[in-house]
Amino acid sequence: MIDLQGVSKTYGSASDPVHALRPTDLALASGQVYGLLGFSGAGKSTLLRLINLLEAPSSGRVILDGQDLTGLAPADLRQARQQVGMIFQQFNLLSSRTAIENVAFALEVAGVSSAQRRERSREALAAVGLSDKEAAFPAQLSGGQKQRVAIARALAMRPKILLSDEATSALDPHTALSILRLLKQLNRERGMTMVVVTHDIKVASYLCEQSVVLERGAVVDRIDMRHPQPVSRLGKFFFETARGWTDQTELPQEDA
Ligand SMILES: Nc1ncnc2c1ncn2[C@@H]1O[C@H](COP(=O)(O)OP(=O)(O)OP(=O)(O)O)[C@@H](O)[C@H]1O
Ligand SMILES: [Mg+2]
Repeated sequence: MIDLQGVSKTYGSASDPVHALRPTDLALASGQVYGLLGFSGAGKSTLLRLINLLEAPSSGRVILDGQDLTGLAPADLRQARQQVGMIFQQFNLLSSRTAIENVAFALEVAGVSSAQRRERSREALAAVGLSDKEAAFPAQLSGGQKQRVAIARALAMRPKILLSDEATSALDPHTALSILRLLKQLNRERGMTMVVVTHDIKVASYLCEQSVVLERGAVVDRIDMRHPQPVSRLGKFFFETARGWTDQTELPQEDA
């Protein structure tokens, strides 16, 4: 479903380049949930934004469901992007719009008719358990509810792929788990392929079949989460943190 071929991203100038993502090959199968683990600055968000070409790659090709997005004209790219939904740590809702208006807005931009917008927005809010909050503004919702609206906004577009960038990082453990359960349910019921950026190994262990570990813009580990056998220092560190830290816990980078 997601095929990255030699994809890289370099920011900055030729004299002072920032290699946010080194050339990377990654093939992610349909209907699976993948984790993207790494420390701050490792390139996780960059990789995620390359998948739907919110970020133009410096090299390589991005192929989604057999379609090469890299060479598309802007109008075709906008169309192709509709198969990819995205959710964020800070929810990114429009504060001046109600829950249902937030959900409908994405459909409006995509040119969906007004009657269809209403029906699909209602359906999406019902799918995340927020039918009673249609008229609420973001400021009147809890963090978990805001994230549910953001998920509904993505769902309304009926995406094949859902990208999640630290979607539960700002939430307490109880609320985080309820959101993760919702994502798992959506994956099972709709077969949506998901890529979940996190630095919390609990999130990856609960939700993901496989995880990729990024360090300084390079993939250093690919881990089967059902039988995890990390080979990199960083991969091992992530699993150690799940058991709790001690004075003996080795830091993968001494300057971290
Ligand atoms: N628009 C940009 N311009 C210049 N450099 C950038 C830009 N976006 C990201 N970078 C750099 O690319 C590298 C990777 O950033 P990225 O945001 O992908 O990391 P991340 O793993 O998502 O980190 P975090 O966990 O803090 O969100 C960092 O060194 C960052 O400073
Ligand atoms: Mg990030």
